[in-house]
Amino acid sequence: METPRRLGIAGLVLGALLVPALSPAQAAAGPDPASRPQGVIGGAGGGDPYFPLAGNRGYDVQHYALDLDYTPPRPAPARLVGRLDGVAKIRLVPTQRLRRFNLDLRGLVAGSVTVDGRPARFRQTLDNELVVTPRSSMSPGQKHKVVVRYGGATGRPKDIEDALYGWVTTRDGAMVVSEPDGSATWFPVNDTPSDKASYRFKVTVPKGLTVAANGLLESRRTRKGRTTWVWDAPDQMSSYLATATIGNFKMQRSTTPGGVPVIDFLDRDLPAAKRARSKASLALTGEMVAFFEERFGRYPFVSYGSIVDDNSVGYALETQTRSFFSRDADEATAAHELAHQWMGDHVGLRRWADIWLNEGWAEYATWLWTEARGGTTAQQAYEKVLARKASDKFWTTVVSDPGRLGIFSDAIYDRGAATLHALRQRVGDELFFRLAKAWVAKYGGRSAGTREFRRLAERVTGQDLDPLFDAWVVAPTKPTAW
Ligand code: TRP
Ligand code: ZN
Repeated sequence: METPRRLGIAGLVLGALLVPALSPAQAAAGPDPASRPQGVIGGAGGGDPYFPLAGNRGYDVQHYALDLDYTPPRPAPARLVGRLDGVAKIRLVPTQRLRRFNLDLRGLVAGSVTVDGRPARFRQTLDNELVVTPRSSMSPGQKHKVVVRYGGATGRPKDIEDALYGWVTTRDGAMVVSEPDGSATWFPVNDTPSDKASYRFKVTVPKGLTVAANGLLESRRTRKGRTTWVWDAPDQMSSYLATATIGNFKMQRSTTPGGVPVIDFLDRDLPAAKRARSKASLALTGEMVAFFEERFGRYPFVSYGSIVDDNSVGYALETQTRSFFSRDADEATAAHELAHQWMGDHVGLRRWADIWLNEGWAEYATWLWTEARGGTTAQQAYEKVLARKASDKFWTTVVSDPGRLGIFSDAIYDRGAATLHALRQRVGDELFFRLAKAWVAKYGGRSAGTREFRRLAERVTGQDLDPLFDAWVVAPTKPTAW
């Protein structure tokens, strides 16, 4: 990790400046019982125990169309503060008759909100909720269009573990990586992984900068010194996997042998050694896709590609169709983020507590790739995990419920991967890989959790796997028998 922890006073001042001011609409929004529409109030929070205020209840988003205009802090910033203005057009379907609902929006100020073309009342709370009251209640099961105009200064947000995430302002753009709850730092969102939607991004930046978002590049047009990049991402996607990373990138297109369009972005400012190493990893994408397709089934999305930024958030992220790398994409990390496209992206999380299914699978896939390349075998990697002493704190993590500060702990990755290896040893290669494919086929495009995985594993293999899963992902101790 190379997370900068040096914002200090400047960060605090910036934080204070970013607290949304009361809007005129808010000041005017007194109670008006006569016009109060019928229906329930969509709750704040999507119900995830680790991030109770992320996401919201009462509706399901189908599509986000985000028109963004961004100016990074150029040319020679004293502080890394950018300017972002956006129009978010959100198509959603209420699950109940709604008279009020929330979106998540953090550090940016909403200027207007309309619902089905009519101005709605709205207010922003200090806990990053945008509360919207439409003129009339919204019908369950029907499509409604919500348009939010918003904007503000962008900074360098941090997650609960103090790692940079969200819309991270850089000298020449922004790194946009939002796991787990950072999407609200750049658009109004139902920021919970199980509400997947399709996306479209129209991002205008100073000419010369490149915008790397999810999906396929539809057009690029320059007018009056600013370039508008239009990206279409038709595949169902969790909000934390959306990106619109901006920088001084060289864009490179290719196609995998299997026909998947690949669009890579290498920062022009990368030092030569990191550039060479990243290029070598990216050159393996076609082979890696073929390798994982054999094990997990067809590549699930319209495109793939990697972004290698010369700036760093201290980690890589499996942004959907366009993995993000800080400074350098080494081969193992490239394999890990690619494997996530099936495991974590296509098959999404039901709750953050289920994250071992993302990281355990991605890590296990990396073990398999490394073995195939003649490196450490999966068996050796597994034995290395099991070589940790029973007294090691590592074994105290409850893998299927690690707590909100434990979602990126070593045990999630290594014990998660070891769980899958133990399962493979138990049921044999044929059933294990049949299960991997069945998992992707059954839950691809949707979300699933540990309960679903355990159930499917037992169904596919016809075995009682309770002792194995209890020992490996439930017990806060080193597994001894299963
Ligand atoms: N999903 C990332 C990966 O698999 C991990 C990640 C996201 C992370 N945010 C983080 C790791 C913050 C450490 C700190 O590599
Ligand atoms: Zn990962």
